Amino acid sequence: MEVIIRPTTKEAVNLTAKLIAEAINQKPFFKLGLATGATMEAVYADLVAMNQAKEVDFSLVHTFNLDEYIGLDPEDPNSYRYYMNKHLFSKINIDMRNTNLPNGLAEDEIAEGLRYESAIAAAGGIDLQLLGIGNDGHIGFNEPISSLAGRTRSKALTPATYAQNSVYFTPPESMPKRAFTMGVGTILGAERIVMLITGAKKAEIAAKAIEGPVTSMVTGSALQMHPRTVVVLDEAAAANLTQKDYYNWVFANEPEWKPYR
Ligand code: PGA
Repeated sequence: MEVIIRPTTKEAVNLTAKLIAEAINQKPFFKLGLATGATMEAVYADLVAMNQAKEVDFSLVHTFNLDEYIGLDPEDPNSYRYYMNKHLFSKINIDMRNTNLPNGLAEDEIAEGLRYESAIAAAGGIDLQLLGIGNDGHIGFNEPISSLAGRTRSKALTPATYAQNSVYFTPPESMPKRAFTMGVGTILGAERIVMLITGAKKAEIAAKAIEGPVTSMVTGSALQMHPRTVVVLDEAAAANLTQKDYYNWVFANEPEWKPYR
């Protein structure tokens, strides 16, 4: 794992978008794993701006999102399909047929998990997976005690996730209590992973995921098992890291960014 700490949220976001754009430019038939949530909106704004400036081309990119709420129609403003169309897909030169999310309306949940796994495998696997982290340490919707070898399936959400996300729903109780999510095993199958963590509220969970023991109680900690993961944090989210000096020393001594590419 490589850890990059940037002084501001804006700089952390810019660097995350730059790592993604650079990877796509190296391999145009790119399979990009995507995340949703408040943290990612700024990353997508950056990628849209870079696409409009012709600094990154999405015309041959295929995308696979981590998760989708069970029971929400793609047209529902709270669905992750809607979020992705709004913040990214409708504003870049991507072929919508190449954008994938689990189908929140699938009747057979087991079959939907298998279908999604097959689609990722048929595409040749994910080249780079973008991740945030939940207040309860989840990646995707892999809540505490999710199998660290799990694949795409339905998952019951925790009260912590419900509290974090129900603010976007009107009324808040209309938020689904279950979601489809890639498993931790699916995520660890990506060639590269870039995780972005910003804000003081995430400082405690960031330290657990990065420097704590690998445990299904904090599924983000499973990234310690992945050979090519970069975690980008702003100063506020990095506040509880004990090895900050080491991370900053590595970054300062790598003008070519080799460890992060
Ligand atoms: P957030 O969500 O960006 O809205 O904090 C992250 C997550 O739950 O993975």
